[in-house]
Amino acid sequence: MKILEGRTALITGAGGGLGTAFVRALVAEGMNVAATDLDLGRAEAVAADYPADRVRPFHLDVTDFAEWARVADEAEAALGQIRLFVSNAGIGAGCIVAEDDPRRWKLVLDVNAYGPFLGCRTLLPRMLKRGDDSHIVFMASMAGLLSNPSLSSYDASKHALVGLAGSLRGELADGPVGVSLVLPGVIATEFTKLSQEVIGRVTGSTTRAQNVGALHQSGMDPNAVVRRVIAAIKAREYYVFTHADWRDRLQAAHDERIAAIGDSADPDWIDSFAGLDAAIRKNLEEAKLASGQS
Ligand SMILES: NC(=O)c1ccc[n+]([C@@H]2O[C@H](COP(=O)([O-])OP(=O)(O)OC[C@H]3O[C@@H](n4cnc5c(N)ncnc54)[C@H](O)[C@@H]3O)[C@@H](O)[C@H]2O)c1
Repeated sequence: MKILEGRTALITGAGGGLGTAFVRALVAEGMNVAATDLDLGRAEAVAADYPADRVRPFHLDVTDFAEWARVADEAEAALGQIRLFVSNAGIGAGCIVAEDDPRRWKLVLDVNAYGPFLGCRTLLPRMLKRGDDSHIVFMASMAGLLSNPSLSSYDASKHALVGLAGSLRGELADGPVGVSLVLPGVIATEFTKLSQEVIGRVTGSTTRAQNVGALHQSGMDPNAVVRRVIAAIKAREYYVFTHADWRDRLQAAHDERIAAIGDSADPDWIDSFAGLDAAIRKNLEEAKLASGQS
């Protein structure tokens, strides 16, 4: 999406560290912004710095499908057709699997993976129907590619998000809607504190999350991350890595997996991918027929 000026974006988690940085940077690019958050007060605080026809705050719980439709309608009526969807809202908590609270584990999956799906399920049909160039940004994490002990809910949710983004990338290839998958390391926000508050409020869980709070104080400036993402939107880049210091760990994990591939479990079986590729082609053709796009 080369041109941002005069177009409209919807951002989830706009009241948090990265979300707020996105609002400010996209307004500076000339966009109108629907600043949505589970915590309306935080979204309102960001929007207060701008005229109502440029930035409008909305309550949006990303896990609520009905609310997605209502907010999309209201945002488009107030600010114009949504051309950029920044799926940014997220929560996380550290705990070992043997002790984690099931309500909290599920909530992290719901917010970080199911929420982005619901956003796409709401906004994508509108984008595709109009056929104008549009873009979706998924704020994932290096935790979507590499797992760490004591972070299972966060790791699983971001791996799921990477899976969603990858499927969508294939479905939308060469079409009007671009996709960017952002994979940052640690960023200087109040992520741990805000996550703790949301998890306590929504689940009533009092299980203490293990401390990774101090980590965020030494994280990267969110504005630097957002600048990089905006460049990626304009260039229609899929992979957006912001923390180059993760390269060696990622390489080591990749090497370990490749080295673990030995002979086929059934030496007489020839895998040509033909069956899988044919099934995928058929799915995509049927979807096009059903939507009248063929
Ligand atoms: N901070 C980091 O180190 C870091 C690193 C990599 C990726 N990320 C990802 O970047 C995104 C933004 O993180 P951040 O650091 O700005 O977090 P943050 O805690 O500062 O902000 C997150 C915002 O999401 C909102 N939110 C929580 N649950 C919600 C829900 N159900 N519906 C709508 N909004 C909800 C919160 O109210 C908050 O305003 C997240 O997806 C996070 O996983 C963060």
